[in-house]
Amino acid sequence: MLPRRDYIQKTLEINLFFLRLAKEHAIFAAAAMPATYEDIITQLLELKNKLESLLKEAVELSQGVLSPEVLASMELVTHLTLEAEQKTQQLTGISIDLEITQMELTLEPEGQGINQAHLFERVTVFNEQAIRTLKIATQANEVLLDQILRCKIATHLYPTIVQHIIIETQFFTMLLEKLQRNEDLTSINEAILEELKLNWNEILKEHAQFVRGQLDPEEDQLFNTADAFSNVFDQLQIGTSLLAVQPEYSPEVLQETLQATASLRDFNQMEVQGILDCDIRTITLPLFVDHLTREANHYLRILHSLMYI
Ligand SMILES: [Fe+2]
Ligand SMILES: [Fe+2]
Repeated sequence: MLPRRDYIQKTLEINLFFLRLAKEHAIFAAAAMPATYEDIITQLLELKNKLESLLKEAVELSQGVLSPEVLASMELVTHLTLEAEQKTQQLTGISIDLEITQMELTLEPEGQGINQAHLFERVTVFNEQAIRTLKIATQANEVLLDQILRCKIATHLYPTIVQHIIIETQFFTMLLEKLQRNEDLTSINEAILEELKLNWNEILKEHAQFVRGQLDPEEDQLFNTADAFSNVFDQLQIGTSLLAVQPEYSPEVLQETLQATASLRDFNQMEVQGILDCDIRTITLPLFVDHLTREANHYLRILHSLMYI
């Protein structure tokens, strides 16, 4: 059974991380569709608004609650998120609540005076709502993927991106459900570590491929770098799939994964800056690449914390 303080902190940390990603998934899907699909775009933006208001509530609940490691990891917001949101809003016409990001940048870490009884009730109710909404998001993405694969919808979003979004959403919903069942941190950390071993290099390979596939054909150098990252993670995937049967290889493979993830994160961060400065020819949005940077930062923090225990 998880102590109340840990339940509150962990639940808010995962919600802050993933609700932002989920609302951005809806933004990317809506922005990638021609205006003729008005009904679907409206549904996606309603979902975005719901996720955004949940994110706002999570930020309001989180003042003085989060661990210093999470706040320092730049998995919730990076130093470029606000600018990437402003630019993405300007380019797509989709409204983004910038105030949430500004509030998040002022969050202070956990203090002594958390009113646990009061927060516990609020976070429990809040987490239920978040789980319900994330399940709706999964369903919406499943319908979207089905329509794309049956060639019923034209979109600039690769089917693999939608598939990737579904897997991410299901995974984080599962973690929030574990918290809601009050499972202990070991079980939650084990689920995260298992995910890292089984899927992390596949996820990272796809991130590199998404960036590669959205570059202008003239961006040879960036294309080749993104392509090289895709190959690195492909090779690492072979190593991590061995972990299930030969766990003794774990430290070396995880160390290599950690180094490759940090390099890809740096590459993505450089690309966000390049897009914001209009120095890179690409059809992607700056917020999309900032999103990938935050995902990498999240797993880097977890890899660091799990590797040395
Ligand atoms: Fe994502
Ligand atoms: Fe991702």
